[in-house]
Amino acid sequence: MSAGTTARPVPRPVPLRRRIPVIGGTLAYIKDPLAFMADHYERFGPVSDLNFIGKRWTILLGPDACGEALRNPDKAFANKPGWDELVGPFFDRGLMLLDFDEHHRHRRLMQEAFTRDRLTGYAAALGPAIETGIGSWEAGDGFKAYPALKDLTLNLATQIFMGGAELTSADELDRVNRAFIDCVQAATSFVRAPLPGTRWRRGIQGRQLLEEFLGRQLPAKRAAEGDDLFSVLCHLTEDGEGFSDADVVNHMIFLLMAAHDTSTITVSTAMQYLGQHPEWQERLRAEASGLSAAPTLDELDGLVGFALVMKECLRLLPPVPVLARRTVKDTEVLGHAIPAGRLTAVMVHLQHHQADLWPDPESFDPDRFAEDRREDKVHRHAWEPFGGGVHKCLGMFFAGAEVKLILHHLLRRFTWSVDADYEVPLNYYSLPFPKDGQPVDLRRREDQPGH
Ligand code: HEM
Repeated sequence: MSAGTTARPVPRPVPLRRRIPVIGGTLAYIKDPLAFMADHYERFGPVSDLNFIGKRWTILLGPDACGEALRNPDKAFANKPGWDELVGPFFDRGLMLLDFDEHHRHRRLMQEAFTRDRLTGYAAALGPAIETGIGSWEAGDGFKAYPALKDLTLNLATQIFMGGAELTSADELDRVNRAFIDCVQAATSFVRAPLPGTRWRRGIQGRQLLEEFLGRQLPAKRAAEGDDLFSVLCHLTEDGEGFSDADVVNHMIFLLMAAHDTSTITVSTAMQYLGQHPEWQERLRAEASGLSAAPTLDELDGLVGFALVMKECLRLLPPVPVLARRTVKDTEVLGHAIPAGRLTAVMVHLQHHQADLWPDPESFDPDRFAEDRREDKVHRHAWEPFGGGVHKCLGMFFAGAEVKLILHHLLRRFTWSVDADYEVPLNYYSLPFPKDGQPVDLRRREDQPGH
């Protein structure tokens, strides 16, 4: 080393959780991810190794370690080889699975599909579609909110994103929705080969159906200047270059996935907490009482209480609790050496519940995000439901508008309650969802005395 250079500290080795064999880590995680992460952090610190789904993963926990990987200053962490491990080939070449220069090019182009003007158009189309969608909900005790919301958001995504696709038969849209669900379920299958009768095989067939369906719609979308997302993707250009047909199809399949389960679980969580906290339910109902059934994007922006509730729900249950990466070169996180080629799990869920960051972290307290408290400012990476760095969610404002609009329609039409001591039993095989369908006691407002 030449005189005057500062010696770099030698990177520390990463501790390995040895006693959990092969799929042990996976099972412990799936049983109770938060307990698993808290215990793991306590014993092994923010950077450690673990065998997960049969492979060696480096586990990052806490805002410092997760933040370093998300900021990715030396471009050591890549998305595709990480996410491929979890979501397989089903969402291939979606924006989240592109890296570095190619990702940058596609993201710049796709950003144009999410400008404020575009969002204003999407929000205007969402309102009536939501009103029709929840119109058929049957009020009653133990109403299963989650599957009803999942149907609703999938229909919204296919309608708003595809904007009146040409169907060859009455049930074609159902088959498209089914194919899409097959892809999502296959992505998290333990059997990762197309054996007969497996989820993986249904996923492969589902992906083929989606490619064929979207490919068939493409010429019409290219020919007309529609304002649905599909048409918009067909017409975006920068320096005369736009997306190829294959790019449009790949982006559409990923966007349907990205927009669907994430929004569903956010509204489902909000229904739970608003059912358990009637004072918040009333506060939101009062806040939006002056708005019509089709509020504009500006009006939605003014719904401060809605935003606080949404943030708190995303803190308590981030729809994407773990982000996948793989190192493409040797690197370090918090001084720990991570070799090239290492799968890495960025477990953002834990920092949302750390008592050293959030006072009383398990309580539902949306006002913690209010301007006079802003507890999330305790650390730049304390609250990361939308990820961070160059892959930060591109649909977060779309999601904000969609979630607020669905809640607005629910609050106008219904009241609901959930037992104060109810704890949601979550399934964590893929993105989290309530195993019991998230039951709520749902009443139509017009059926209630005094309405
Ligand atoms: C509450 C709802 C949502 C949550 C919590 C959420 C969360 C996330 C997270 C954590 C990522 C980063 C993944 C990574 O870094 O590996 C992401 C990426 C992405 N999300 Fe969302 N998302 C939501 C809704 C949506 C919606 C509605 C859309 C589209 C309309 C969308 C489109 C995308 C896209 C395109 C990416 C990839 C960005 C990139 O790689 O550059 N998301 N989302």
